[in-house]
Amino acid sequence: MKALLKMLFEIIRRSLPLSLRWQMVVWYTTAFTVLLLFTGALFYQYLEYRLEASIDTDLQLRAQQIAAEVVLLNGMVNLPGVTGNQIGFSTLPQHSASKPADVNYGELVRLLDAQGHMIAETPAFHALAVPTTSITQPLAGTPWQGTIKTPAGQEVRVTSRMLTDNGKTVALLQVGESLEPLHSLLHQLVAALLFVGLLVLGVCAAGSYWLAAYSFAPIQRLSETARKINAGDLHQRVPVPVIRDEVQFLALTFNEMLDSLEQAFVRQRRFVADASHELRTPVAVIRNTAGVALLEPPQLDETVTALQDIRSETERLTLLLTDLLTLSRGDEGQARFEHEIVQFDQLVETVVATTEVLAAEHAIHLSTQISHPVRVLGDEARLIQVVMNLLDNAIRYTNSGGQVWVTLEQRSEAVALSVRDTGIGIAPEHVPHIFERFYRADSTRRWSEGSGSGLGLSIVEWIVRSHGGSIVVESQVGCGSCFTVYLPSVSA
Ligand SMILES: Nc1ncnc2c1ncn2[C@@H]1O[C@H](COP(=O)(O)OP(=O)(O)OP(=O)(O)O)[C@@H](O)[C@H]1O
Ligand SMILES: [Mg+2]
Repeated sequence: MKALLKMLFEIIRRSLPLSLRWQMVVWYTTAFTVLLLFTGALFYQYLEYRLEASIDTDLQLRAQQIAAEVVLLNGMVNLPGVTGNQIGFSTLPQHSASKPADVNYGELVRLLDAQGHMIAETPAFHALAVPTTSITQPLAGTPWQGTIKTPAGQEVRVTSRMLTDNGKTVALLQVGESLEPLHSLLHQLVAALLFVGLLVLGVCAAGSYWLAAYSFAPIQRLSETARKINAGDLHQRVPVPVIRDEVQFLALTFNEMLDSLEQAFVRQRRFVADASHELRTPVAVIRNTAGVALLEPPQLDETVTALQDIRSETERLTLLLTDLLTLSRGDEGQARFEHEIVQFDQLVETVVATTEVLAAEHAIHLSTQISHPVRVLGDEARLIQVVMNLLDNAIRYTNSGGQVWVTLEQRSEAVALSVRDTGIGIAPEHVPHIFERFYRADSTRRWSEGSGSGLGLSIVEWIVRSHGGSIVVESQVGCGSCFTVYLPSVSA
């Protein structure tokens, strides 16, 4: 039922493409019309019923009055008092030929004897075609009451009752009253109700239009301000109304959305600027190297060295471009992540084994403490990238003769992987920024030999977050750093 109503509303809304303001007017006015029609109909029915009941009471009183004036003489019905009061009330032979009077004017009375033969009637009653049950029923002992229609279509209410003398039926009295005055009164009432109803509906439509205009004015203002805000000036905000209502909530939500949009926009702009800056340096190096090699006269040794330099720069450039691509795919939500059970302990061991050579080259001692078995749910290739980047940093930022520890343990709710080193450490002011793209604690080492691009930890943080985990860093300048990755563990 609810779904049906919803569908009906939707169809009406689609077929009537009105503004919200006019929609409110239409709905309110329709609701009021239905309400007015319903209450009007109820009121009319009740009034008609009450008025008809009062006519029945009147008729019975009138019948009682007339009955009190009927006199019984030698078993014959006599009407001295009645004939005195009733204009034209006479026996049949006297008025049968005369034209019947209008039922709306003149009394409607008829007297019949115990056999149902007419004794007397008023001229107006003569026009009525009274059903035989109105005679037979009271003669059988039950009073009769009913509504009769005249040939002219007028309705008359008639009551029929017997007159008794010592328990014996002596006559039958029928009294009627035209319902025309009642009907014309009711018609006047309907006209008045319609007039008042239309007036109320007009006021209601105007009122709901005004109310809708008043309520939607703040939204109108809000959308006008919002329209003025474009991508260029995202620092603008919509005015927040003082009254705590839905519009205030909407304005606040809108401003919050603008905040995050602005932040994202600034981040994106900085990312593009940083990326172009990072790319410009190696390209310049390659160009210069090639330029030097092409100087006359060409020397084989110098050409070979230049080509080697160009190759190593290109390799670094490729790495940088791969990282950039990874991050931009992550931003766009295009990166696909596998969701498979990964033997994390084995994975960490393998990565450590591959970096042992690099550690040895830098005379760094690498030791592990890995619990077995440790499993996580995720993407194996991405998790390798996490461990690789952390180990690469630990080795890169630790001086020769230093130490790196890799610890993997299964805690109650998470898997914890720590990479700790005795390296140069990170100053407290840099710690909050190291996960930002292109951020390097030592900004002087931009694109110098041995330095990275500053994207490694951004990628680590993105992969860990995508796995539902977190990363924590503790560091002290000159003592070393410890990066701990927490990943949700897989229930056995
Ligand atoms: N173990 C560590 N010890 C000291 N400093 C670190 C360590 N790990 C990261 N840092 C600091 O954080 C910065 C950001 O690290 P990140 O891995 O993102 O970039 P990167 O190592 O410079 O370049 P790459 O993109 O090649 O990884 C580093 O430049 C470095 O200053
Ligand atoms: Mg790094």
